[in-house]
Amino acid sequence: MTDTTPTPEILPADAPQQGREATDATTVHREDYQPPAFWIDSVALTFDLDPAKTRVLNKMQVRRNMAVPAQPLRLDGEGLNLARVLVNGQGASFKLERGQLVLSNLPEGDAPFDLEIFTTCQPEKNTQLSGLYVSQGTFFTQCEAEGFRRITYFLDRPDVMSVYTVTLRADKAAYPVLLSNGNLVEQGELEDGRHFARWSDPFKKPSYLFALVAGPLVAREQRITARNGREHLLQIYVRAGDLEKTEHAMRSLMASIAWDETRFGLPLDLDRFMIVATSDFNMGAMENKGLNIFNTKFVLASQATATDQDFANVESVIGHEYFHNWTGNRITCRDWFQLSLKEGLTVFRDQEFSMDMAGSASARAVKRIEDVRLLRTMQFAEDAGPMAHPVRPDSYQEINNFYTLTIYEKGAEVVRMMHTLVGEAGFRKGMALYFERHDGQAVTCDDFAQAIADANPQSPLAVHLEQFKRWYSQAGTPHVQAEGQYDAAAQTYTLTLTQTTPPTPGQGEKHPLIIPVRLGLLGRNGAALPLQLQSEQGVQELGLEATLVLHERQQSFTFTQVGESPVPSLLRGFSAPVVLHQNLDDDALETLLQYDSDPFNRWEASQQWAQRIIVQALADGDAQAAPRLPERYLAALRHLLADAQLDAAFKDLVLTLPSEGYIAEQLDSVDPQRIHAVREALQDHLAQALHAQWQTVWEQHHDTGAYQPDAHSAGRRALAGKALAMLVRDARRTGDAVWPGKAYQSFKDAGNMTDRFNALSALVQAGHPLAEPALERFHQVFRGESLVLDKWFQLQASAPAQGQGEAASVLARVQRLMQHPDFSLRNPNRARSLIFAYAQGNPAGFHRADGAGYQFWAEQVIALDAINAQVAARLARALDRWAKLAEPYRTAARAAIARVAAHEPLSKDVREIVQKALAAPAA
Ligand code: TRP
Ligand code: ZN
Repeated sequence: MTDTTPTPEILPADAPQQGREATDATTVHREDYQPPAFWIDSVALTFDLDPAKTRVLNKMQVRRNMAVPAQPLRLDGEGLNLARVLVNGQGASFKLERGQLVLSNLPEGDAPFDLEIFTTCQPEKNTQLSGLYVSQGTFFTQCEAEGFRRITYFLDRPDVMSVYTVTLRADKAAYPVLLSNGNLVEQGELEDGRHFARWSDPFKKPSYLFALVAGPLVAREQRITARNGREHLLQIYVRAGDLEKTEHAMRSLMASIAWDETRFGLPLDLDRFMIVATSDFNMGAMENKGLNIFNTKFVLASQATATDQDFANVESVIGHEYFHNWTGNRITCRDWFQLSLKEGLTVFRDQEFSMDMAGSASARAVKRIEDVRLLRTMQFAEDAGPMAHPVRPDSYQEINNFYTLTIYEKGAEVVRMMHTLVGEAGFRKGMALYFERHDGQAVTCDDFAQAIADANPQSPLAVHLEQFKRWYSQAGTPHVQAEGQYDAAAQTYTLTLTQTTPPTPGQGEKHPLIIPVRLGLLGRNGAALPLQLQSEQGVQELGLEATLVLHERQQSFTFTQVGESPVPSLLRGFSAPVVLHQNLDDDALETLLQYDSDPFNRWEASQQWAQRIIVQALADGDAQAAPRLPERYLAALRHLLADAQLDAAFKDLVLTLPSEGYIAEQLDSVDPQRIHAVREALQDHLAQALHAQWQTVWEQHHDTGAYQPDAHSAGRRALAGKALAMLVRDARRTGDAVWPGKAYQSFKDAGNMTDRFNALSALVQAGHPLAEPALERFHQVFRGESLVLDKWFQLQASAPAQGQGEAASVLARVQRLMQHPDFSLRNPNRARSLIFAYAQGNPAGFHRADGAGYQFWAEQVIALDAINAQVAARLARALDRWAKLAEPYRTAARAAIARVAAHEPLSKDVREIVQKALAAPAA
């Protein structure tokens, strides 16, 4: 309930080319792609696992790719100690060049040869969490995107696919569980208390999908029989104390398997499927073949320690990684520019999975609204900033910087538009053709689009395929202007749609896209009007809802026999990732909010209305008294709250004002303090004006019975939590002690983490004196639960200042928390919960007129960069939008970025981010 603002290559002839001169030698360009000069058909790896010095023996069968000119073999490696290189059992001559191992005198012709490489590495010194590392006494690997080269020399690129056999040897007492991809084929004892396990993966895979785990873990096990009769063993490995928290993860895994069988006809292809959880992880989770490795945050859940949001996230991330088994692993990416081939498609699949699991139409809409909110707040900002890039980028310096909202979330929207243009059945046919053509291959985004189109030759996607593919090549968020003209005499309604895309760095000229616009027309009484579209072939009867396909810069659509001036409901379900501009008056917004059959657009009407009120309040300036919400808007919200037909979760979303981050994106010049003040004042007014309703809502919703994490009861808890927050907020005005007291009581007595945390947040966000004892007690109770401690840090970092003066400021609080014995910069979850929550989730606490927030940010980026470059580079993006800030923020922010950029040494991860930020055009 708190704000979630915190995710054959032929260029079209008209696609602009990137300016190559401007970028330095370390930039990788998509158009430079060359097939590999060698193939590696099989790999046998033997690990002698030791935290201080692990020995890796890598025996490969290599063969020349005769389709490319003969050249030396260049193997990638990073941070390795090389001991031996043998070719066909003989010592071979080699060079080390820019980190690569170069072998020149290799056997000629296409006959395979043996290449044996012996190296060592130091897992306990690996703080980057890429390659082989140790976390709490257990070995883990993370190889995507380019971590395998930190384990052994290899052709570390996704289009080189090999069959792996892996032997793990380690001390048996310290590392009783030894896991790798595929099937366990042999295990046994060795001398000196050591043991071994041998794993064999029947599927060819690229190196980024390799994984091993070794340590003292326990597993929840489940045997299942698939629809096709095949039996599988499912295992979820965690540390001994965490086993009771894996039930929801196992349920989610079983549901994912069943869903992919039913919705896409895609079965599990392995006898054994394992998930392992670690608390030291750079991202959410990783889809290694048969051995998914997860951040504990997305596996462990119990009602005592996890919120409803956590339960939903576990389900969705387990789904995501499982669905990668087909979309990512069976068919993978030719090169990393094609990353969205697997990520966009798999996000689309996990979104659909979550919606299907949610059940009712209204619960589905809630999930869609949450996804769109993330896209519009975070991805649209990315698309408008210095890191803007196409869904299929043209260049990068560090690929880890391109695991972005554009690749994931916009990529999913591109897949969703294809789904809209060919229909659900057509999309399933397209997926079937995609697997028929490309199973076992490393392919491109174009291959995917081609398969979906070829399976649906009559569809608008096939008709407009070349133009549709601009969604992959063109960066930036398109804007669509909608203008409606009603002709009462002719009884026609003409809708004119105009599209433009603003320029992005390196891409000045933009071309029209294919934009599906789902729409309906409403009468003033809210009834849906039948759609009769005039076209060259005559009048088409479209029923009550249709999808128009905008393909020109400007197009007009005329509907006939329209008996009254209609209210247009455009872009239903957010049918395209665009910014829609239409000048609807309050009457129209009220009609949509009350009557639209599309729940997404009902919510959207509430947001547009609120946005307009906020923008007006900002324009009115400081001279004005505290801004207020107009009575008409409040009346509409009261009406909606009282509607017994609507889901509680949906009401919660409608009653949430646009976040400060979203508001900022709509403005040309951003004063974060001013936005905060206005939004807070409006929230205060919402608390006051709906006081009676909030009380009723709390009374009707706060008891949700025995805990179940399903969408319906989660929605009830969310709305009750919002009501409580509003009532505690309003107590600041009235001086009432009852509601803060109830909040404290609810915090103490709650039977689940959702209610407990909502009550705690209500006190902390309102800055109530009870917040302090509550926070203390919370820490006492949960000090042994690191995922709960993350929440404790995060809440304090994202809450407003708790009083006047520097000592009471958010920054001072964050700096005190950095000294807390439970804080550590080394653990990414903990660093995110404090530093990222401050820099990205607390605009008013971070954007200080004295620039102290930015200076703190610069220090932390530099400190983190020495430990973990991937995590540091994510934090570095917090100031992406500096050029939009008003003074004095703008100058101070730029200075902080320049300070990071000037620091030596700097990882190439962080360097790319700050260089691009500083190159942003002066706004
Ligand atoms: N492929 C993972 C996913 O989306 C993402 C991922 C996990 C990742 N760990 C990573 C990407 C480390 C880069 C680096 O499911
Ligand atoms: Zn993924």
